[in-house]
Amino acid sequence: MIPGMPGDSQVYLNGDFTRLDEAKISVLDRGFIFGDGIYEVVPVYDGKVFRMNEHLDRLDRSLKAIRIASPFDRSGWIGLIDQLVARASAPTCLVYLQITRGVARRDHGFPTEPVTPTVFGMATPFAPPTPAQRARGVATISIPDERWLHCEIKSVSLLGNVLAKQAAVEAGVEEVLQFRDGFLSEGASSNIWVVRDGTLLAPPKNNLILEGIRYGLMGELAAAAGVPFEMRPLPRAEVESADEILITSATKEVLAVTELDGRPVGDGKPGPVFALLRAGYDARIAAL
Ligand code: PDD
Repeated sequence: MIPGMPGDSQVYLNGDFTRLDEAKISVLDRGFIFGDGIYEVVPVYDGKVFRMNEHLDRLDRSLKAIRIASPFDRSGWIGLIDQLVARASAPTCLVYLQITRGVARRDHGFPTEPVTPTVFGMATPFAPPTPAQRARGVATISIPDERWLHCEIKSVSLLGNVLAKQAAVEAGVEEVLQFRDGFLSEGASSNIWVVRDGTLLAPPKNNLILEGIRYGLMGELAAAAGVPFEMRPLPRAEVESADEILITSATKEVLAVTELDGRPVGDGKPGPVFALLRAGYDARIAAL
């Protein structure tokens, strides 16, 4: 029995729907042995999938990056997500998809014999940010980014991210801001945004960050709200003296960061650019 994960919830594994507590994979699965796989987390509001195509585009990019042939075409993935949502215990949920290279004799190189990728899917209850988190923002600490150099792949090899998030947990804050060579990269499981003089700033989309599905969305929301938006390397000093800092992810949506390393960000309250973008995000959810 795993708390918060009812054993009788229906999950998808390699072609079948089955109870969570009955879904089993081989100990030789390369996802288990090597972290040789990728994943997606897709938010669903009241049964409606948010940014489906963008999530599936990124799923395809991740599969391509690690050279796994996609087990489904676009309509197959959409069908699978729809079935997971239909079986979900609540209509507002997170669809988790994971694809690994499959089961093979343990050997670091790709299997030379044909191997079938493992496909796993589940829908878990999604509690969007609370009114208190939206009103007060969240606290963060900064840490060095010690992860590998292919953070653009949504890989299940997440040890670096796990250790980074644990640093936040132990500091009693919501998230970390990671810095590599003095420049902002991202959170442990989120993208980070900076506001200076009314301009929204974000680190460039490259191999040092995961391009969140909210990357494109924030650009659209900023344009609609008349907020200038620029992607460029952000040195630590610019982050520490920002007027506002924001955080985005499928689960955090968009939240203000109001504390960094024990000091207030700006005046310590969610700022005006956050308010504009948050309103835009809410409108997109309402329009689903
Ligand atoms: N994480 N960067 C990292 C390292 C992430 O793990 C995530 C998301 C993001 C934001 O991506 P998106 O906007 O597409 O959610 C950025 C998900 C939620 C997770 O691993 O659970």
